Amino acid sequence: MSLADKTVVIIGGSSGMGLAAAKAALAEGAAVVITGRSEERLRSAREALGSAVRTVALDAADEAGTRRLFEELGRVDHVFFTAATLSFDPRLAGDSAAVRAAIDTRFWGAYYAAKYAAPRMPPDGSITLTTGTAALKPIPGGAVVSASCGAVEALARALALELAPIRVNALRPGLIDTPLHEKLAGSPERAARRIAQGAAHLPLKRAGTAEDIAQAALFLMQNRFTTGVTLTVDGGHLLV
Ligand SMILES: NC(=O)c1ccc[n+]([C@@H]2O[C@H](COP(=O)([O-])OP(=O)(O)OC[C@H]3O[C@@H](n4cnc5c(N)ncnc54)[C@H](OP(=O)(O)O)[C@@H]3O)[C@@H](O)[C@H]2O)c1
Repeated sequence: MSLADKTVVIIGGSSGMGLAAAKAALAEGAAVVITGRSEERLRSAREALGSAVRTVALDAADEAGTRRLFEELGRVDHVFFTAATLSFDPRLAGDSAAVRAAIDTRFWGAYYAAKYAAPRMPPDGSITLTTGTAALKPIPGGAVVSASCGAVEALARALALELAPIRVNALRPGLIDTPLHEKLAGSPERAARRIAQGAAHLPLKRAGTAEDIAQAALFLMQNRFTTGVTLTVDGGHLLV
């Protein structure tokens, strides 16, 4: 299915894999709308993508804002949801409200996007929700992050039935070299070190790129017979 003249909405499209997917969809001729919370990141994304992209400042966990976004857009063909809050909670000792944000953004944000986008989608529309290999391979301190990913994978399967013929899938990335790691590690140097260490354990001996994930996201938008699946793109991480 061509993306020419289709409207693609990327929730969390101002950085990393969302930004790469926006670039790829624009190159295919789609009208692309990206969201994110930071106006500054959206401005940089617009500089990188060009004026054809539409940017909307919105917290994915804001239900009323998400409803307004889709009401204003009218017809939507494809939604790619990548937004996530990663709050770690070693030995369940952290602030519960901070940890809850992981569910508010990834799970409820995805639910709101599906809820308000689906009524505006044609039968060949699609929704792709992003999770992570943490759904199956938890990392210490990341219990709620893992649970949020598992919940979204179950949500995608259930919505594939609920919303058919609109297709709903989950995309499960492994270690991907994006600005997320700099934010988590606190500096570019620490992020690069951690990515190199993680990559050394993978069968493919490299971290993925945002473009690797963008290509998978576009596959899920375009392949008309794929629904209810979780597509792992992880360089073999689940094998080791
Ligand atoms: N990178 C990896 O190694 C990896 C591995 C597995 C899974 N993942 C998952 O892949 C997804 C994308 O990650 P990435 O690496 O591309 O991260 P990224 O480079 O940090 O990009 C995240 C994007 O989401 C937006 N965002 C974050 N929280 C948001 C919120 N509450 N509302 C709206 N937008 C929000 C960010 O903009 P603002 O901050 O301005 O809002 C940004 O545009 C996430 O779900 C992440 O958990 C990543």
